[in-house]
Amino acid sequence: MNLQFERHRRLRNHPILREMVRETQVHISDFMYPLFVTHDEGRHPVLSMPGVDHLSLEELKREVETLSELGIPSLMIFGIPAIKDDLSSEAYAEEGIVQQAIRVVKQENPKLLVATDVCLCQYNPAGHCGIVHGDQIVNDESLELLAQTALSHVIAGADLVAPSDMMDGRVAAIRAKLDEAGFVQTPIMAYSVKYASAFYGPFREAAHSAPAFGDRRSYQMDPANLREAIREARSDVAEGADILMVKPALAYMDVIRAVKESFDLPLAAYNVSGEYAMVKAAAMQGWIDERSVVMEMMTGLKRAGAEILISYFAKDVARYLRESG
Ligand code: PBG
Ligand code: ZN
Repeated sequence: MNLQFERHRRLRNHPILREMVRETQVHISDFMYPLFVTHDEGRHPVLSMPGVDHLSLEELKREVETLSELGIPSLMIFGIPAIKDDLSSEAYAEEGIVQQAIRVVKQENPKLLVATDVCLCQYNPAGHCGIVHGDQIVNDESLELLAQTALSHVIAGADLVAPSDMMDGRVAAIRAKLDEAGFVQTPIMAYSVKYASAFYGPFREAAHSAPAFGDRRSYQMDPANLREAIREARSDVAEGADILMVKPALAYMDVIRAVKESFDLPLAAYNVSGEYAMVKAAAMQGWIDERSVVMEMMTGLKRAGAEILISYFAKDVARYLRESG
C-alpha cells in the first residue's frame, strides 16, 4: 500500500508541541468585566445570572480588590439608579450611581481601566435607550442627553465610554462633547453592531431596564443582517469611534469576522447575559464541563477576530488561567 496523505496528527501528539502550534491564546489582559452598582446596601445576587451580584458602593470596593487580585485589567460599570424620570436625569447627574462608582473604583485602584456603558434605558420609566415621544424613540433629541451622560462619566474619572443606545449619530455627538470639554484623549468604544437580541433577557432583570412598552427593534439591529453590520460600523468609524464592538457574541461570530476584516480598528465582543446564564444553568445541572466550555467559547471569540472580551466569566477565566499556569 502506498497511500499519499498528510499526517495532521503529528502535531497533536506532544502536549508541548500542541501548545507551541496553538494559533489563538486567551489572556486575562483581554478581558473587561461588567458589573452592576446600586444605591442599596450590601450585595444581592442577580438570580438570572449565578455568580453576578448587585453591589453597593461599599461592596464595590471589595469587588475592586478581588478583580485586582485576579489580575482583571478592566471593568465596565452599569448603574441602577434611585429614580427614573422622562429626562433620564440620573444618567448624567454628578452624584448619579455610575459617577459615584467611577470615583470609588478610581480611589481603590487607579490602575484599573474604568469603562462605562452609556445609555438611558435604566434611567427612564419607559425603559428605552433614547427619549420617548408617544410610542416613538426619538433619535436626534436623545443625542444631547447621551453626550451629557458620557461627559459626566469622564468628568467622574472614566477612562473610556461605551455608548450602547444605537441612536444614529451618538458617536459624533459624544466625540464633539468630549473634545469641547478638553477630553480629546478619551476613547470611545462603540457598541457599533448591536442586535435586538433575546440573549439580553437576564441583563434586563439585573439592570431593571426592560422596556415598559414595545421592544428595541426600531433601533437595535435585525439578527438576520450582516451587510447592515458593516454600514453601522462604517458610520461609527467615520464619527470617530476608537474601538468597535459586536454584541451579542456567540451567535454572531461571522459578524465579528466580517467587521474585523472590513475595518482596521480594535474590536470587542460582548459575551452577553443570556450566553452566560445558559452555560451556568447547564453547568449547575452537571450537563457540561463549565471550565472547558467557557475557555472554548472565549478562544472561539478571539479566533473569530475579537481582541477585547467583555464577559461575566472574566473572574472564572482568571482562576482557570491561574490554575493552568
Ligand atoms: C443597555 C444595555 C443592554 C446590554 C448592555 N447595555 C441591554 C439592552 O440593550 O437591552 C446587554 C448586556 C447583556 O445582556 O449582558 N442598552
Ligand atoms: Zn439602553
